[in-house]
Amino acid sequence: MSYSKQKDDSIQFTIDGRKVKAREGWTVLETARHYGIHIPTLCYHEAVKPSGACRLCVVEARDGEWSKVVISCMYPPTNGVEIRTDTDRVMNVRRWILEMLLAECPASKEIADLAAKYGVKSSRFKVEDSEEQCLLCGLCVRVCEEVVGVKAISFGSRGVTKHIATPYMVPNKACIACGACVSVCPTGAMQERLDRVRGDVSQRTGHGFAH
Ligand code: SF4
Ligand code: FES
Repeated sequence: MSYSKQKDDSIQFTIDGRKVKAREGWTVLETARHYGIHIPTLCYHEAVKPSGACRLCVVEARDGEWSKVVISCMYPPTNGVEIRTDTDRVMNVRRWILEMLLAECPASKEIADLAAKYGVKSSRFKVEDSEEQCLLCGLCVRVCEEVVGVKAISFGSRGVTKHIATPYMVPNKACIACGACVSVCPTGAMQERLDRVRGDVSQRTGHGFAH
């Protein structure tokens, strides 16, 4: 198979043996989606820049002598590269990631279902908070900032106490209650968080409150 740069500047490569073409600037994941090839994702959304936070979208890239596992939502294809989405190496890395996610978000049904699909029923990693559903993917923060243009929520704290919150953990007046953060959240964590904030505010004021 010969690969030469196309006049239209597209990149020719293969995904699971299928010839595909990527337009300038497309990642491997974007190309796969264009051709209807499934790669699992959690922190990706086409409306915002990819961040590579969950790593679930790993695939194997081979070119001549070398091969490596790469994050498909961030990886720019090159002419002739062979991408495989389901090798043993990819599956092992994906299962390992799912074990970590199970430990990080033990209360998330979405993560549990995804893990079960890959044969992961339990995790070797320590569970910090059995109520936690948030995997800290930051999708809610990126949508609020990049799409809505509001920045009502952000990452609070660092390390093991890192979390998603409004500044000072109080309702943020900048929030327009559009619900974009809830709709993109892959685990339901943002809905649960908003419900809690609403409840707290209702108790204090006697009124319902969006955020
Ligand atoms: S609340 Fe949802 S979207 Fe936001 S960081 Fe957590 S899992 Fe990701
Ligand atoms: S979807 Fe690629 S790192 Fe999360």
